[in-house]
Amino acid sequence: MKIDLTNIECENLCNYEDKAMKAFDSLIKKNGSGNDFLGWIDRPVDYDKEEFERIKKAGEKIKASSDILVSIGIGGSYLGIKATEFALDSYFSSDRKVKLIYAGHNLSGQYLSELLEYLKDKDYSLNVISKSGTTTEPAIAFRFLKEAIEEKYGKEGAKERIFATTDRKKGALKELADAEGYETFVIPDDIGGRFSVISAVGLLPLAAAGIDIDEFMAGFKSGYDKYKENSFENDAIKYAAVRNMLYENGKDIEVLVNYEPKLQYIAEWWKQLYGESEGKDGCGIFPVSVNNTTDLHSLGQIIQDGKRNIFESVIEVKNPKKDIKVKEDKDNLDGLNYLAGKSLSFINKQAMEGTTIAHVKGEVPNIRIILDEVSAKSIGELYYFFEIAVGVSGYMLGVNPFNQPGVEEYKSQMFKLLGKAGY
Ligand code: PA5
Repeated sequence: MKIDLTNIECENLCNYEDKAMKAFDSLIKKNGSGNDFLGWIDRPVDYDKEEFERIKKAGEKIKASSDILVSIGIGGSYLGIKATEFALDSYFSSDRKVKLIYAGHNLSGQYLSELLEYLKDKDYSLNVISKSGTTTEPAIAFRFLKEAIEEKYGKEGAKERIFATTDRKKGALKELADAEGYETFVIPDDIGGRFSVISAVGLLPLAAAGIDIDEFMAGFKSGYDKYKENSFENDAIKYAAVRNMLYENGKDIEVLVNYEPKLQYIAEWWKQLYGESEGKDGCGIFPVSVNNTTDLHSLGQIIQDGKRNIFESVIEVKNPKKDIKVKEDKDNLDGLNYLAGKSLSFINKQAMEGTTIAHVKGEVPNIRIILDEVSAKSIGELYYFFEIAVGVSGYMLGVNPFNQPGVEEYKSQMFKLLGKAGY
């Protein structure tokens, strides 16, 4: 993958080089704020190989016993899994042996009731994922799903189908898992939730879904080799610098754009990564996303013509997995014969190029992120790129990119309303 800055006015970018390189240096030398949460940086080469093999075995065990794995988690314990498996699955007829279904990522009574009903006649396993082990949404979902799975398979049978991914030592989930004898996997202390897709958080459900986690790790390693390079030619540093330059020029909304709907949850993962990492102390670029060309018929208007505080980062996929050509029609009643012989990927690309021209004309600077393909490897590399970039970008903004103090406020208000002791 690479980035293309053709549609950015880069004359002043050199003014940001020094700041960006200093931020990168702090990140890599681990001497900036939040430096106790930088375990993800070396994780592509420094991980627990024994646990990695155990993850693969657990994945096989789930495949042998279940048609469904319910992945229970929220935020960083949900988004990377959903983003990766959704991007890699086919649109309509999945050939996966194990289907991933999610729970604990909302508080909808309808969602959970319908899920419990749906699971009644299915063979399934559970992977409950929470770093803190105390997050309300997954804890509530797990309470219901644990009861249901024990009713279906008996306590001992259920034990073989429940996998817990949590802190090595602490938290309610760890205590519960130990007390019940579930197989457990570790979220390392020094890897924050939104950076944890490279740990058992992402790897176990992805392995169970049949995704090649060796390839996924190889993608992270490829990112590690590229984006740890101490040079302003490093695309991750450049992306961070360009974002900061645009932000200082009044562009405080970044739209992550895709033209392949399979990437839509990668944008959801990215929004958490960037929103939680940068949005604090009264600053930060607001991350939003669009799926084109669908959203050209909705948000396209405001991007083209609304308040000029937006820039875009467009993910282009060079080689789509499948393609199809428009045929000649003898009557041509729809007037589309001018496209005969052209592939959908060609037409989609012209939509992307045309939109880029229009938006740049409309003062929307446009960063291009080019992926050769959508694969487990390319997604791993993309994640690492975004992670290094957000570390650099956050330090450039002057914030600690590795905490999320803001997410606590709603919790105390909610707990107060719910009457939880101590609130
Ligand atoms: O990035 C983070 O740390 C958070 O957004 C968490 O991922 C999210 O709150 C879920 O937390 P936990 O895994 O502790 O249940």
